[in-house]
Amino acid sequence: MNKPTVVSGIRPTGFLHLGNYFGAVQNFIKMQNDFSCYFFIADIHSLTTHPTPGNLQAGVRQVLAEYLACGIDPEKATIFIQSDVPEVSELYAFLNMNAYLGELERTTSFKDKARQQPDNVNAGLLTYPVLMAADIIIHKADFVPVGKDQEQNLEMARKFAKRFNRMYKTEVFPIPRPFTAGGGDMIKIPGLDGSGKMGKSEGNAINLVEDPKSIRKKVMRAVTDSGPTEMNQKKPEAIQNLFTLMDIVSTPDTVAHFDELYNKCEIRYGDLKKQLAEDIIAYTTPIRERILEIHGDDAYLAKVAKTGAEKARESAIKTLQEVKEVIGFKKLF
Ligand code: TRP
Repeated sequence: MNKPTVVSGIRPTGFLHLGNYFGAVQNFIKMQNDFSCYFFIADIHSLTTHPTPGNLQAGVRQVLAEYLACGIDPEKATIFIQSDVPEVSELYAFLNMNAYLGELERTTSFKDKARQQPDNVNAGLLTYPVLMAADIIIHKADFVPVGKDQEQNLEMARKFAKRFNRMYKTEVFPIPRPFTAGGGDMIKIPGLDGSGKMGKSEGNAINLVEDPKSIRKKVMRAVTDSGPTEMNQKKPEAIQNLFTLMDIVSTPDTVAHFDELYNKCEIRYGDLKKQLAEDIIAYTTPIRERILEIHGDDAYLAKVAKTGAEKARESAIKTLQEVKEVIGFKKLF
């Protein structure tokens, strides 16, 4: 039986942190077993914010190494680099003819970016959702795993797919749906600043490649309070956050130990943080080592990218042929 198709793009910027690891990455790892998955590094998209060539290449290599180290399996999923599949850009050009200025200008992510980089409000930013739609529908995706920030972009992809089907009285494109499996029971990793969520832009994250010294420093600086004053008192958010992190990386005995100290008002946050830092280090060290190993393995990375591009192109070429026929391109010679 044919498995439903999943497509997801990854930004080649920044490092994966613990929040990503227990969120999106674990989701990918589960999905690769049950779906026909296309995961790609969105390097063309990243040009909308003008990274330098060196940064671009370094970013692509880093995320590729990180996702592979976390367990994305190139034997199960198709993992590739967006710019290695020129058919995506071709479909993007066709879709642009049926995308309207008004709707693109109204997109939240465009308005945000235009505000962030007022000196570089380029057409690529405006048509970002069109390229994203091309990424998705070129593989006839049934599902796209999306976080809150990408919901509107996926809505646009659905709109462009429907519009194309309607205009050309065809059904070439299935209408992609948001994939929220695991959404409810997925572990949410809190930040170290007392906030609810670990995030790159929040500056409260621990990266998977972070070295032990830096992990210790970050954890020791985590926000706490002056300590409990009543027995068995409810933990305020910042303290609960540290316990939530412990639940993930420490043994149940360790968690119970500090929980008891808290309940007896005998806790010393310095001790808790020291333990937490060591347990995070123990947890991330094998992942960090694997990232560094893969990151330095040119031959392996090249092989993964090449195989991925071949598989992705096979699917993309097939769709593009149908699309061109539908649009009315006829071979003259
Ligand atoms: N826009 C997505 C992000 O910023 C990345 C992306 C590009 C994507 N193309 C995609 C995600 C296609 C899902 C499907 O995270």
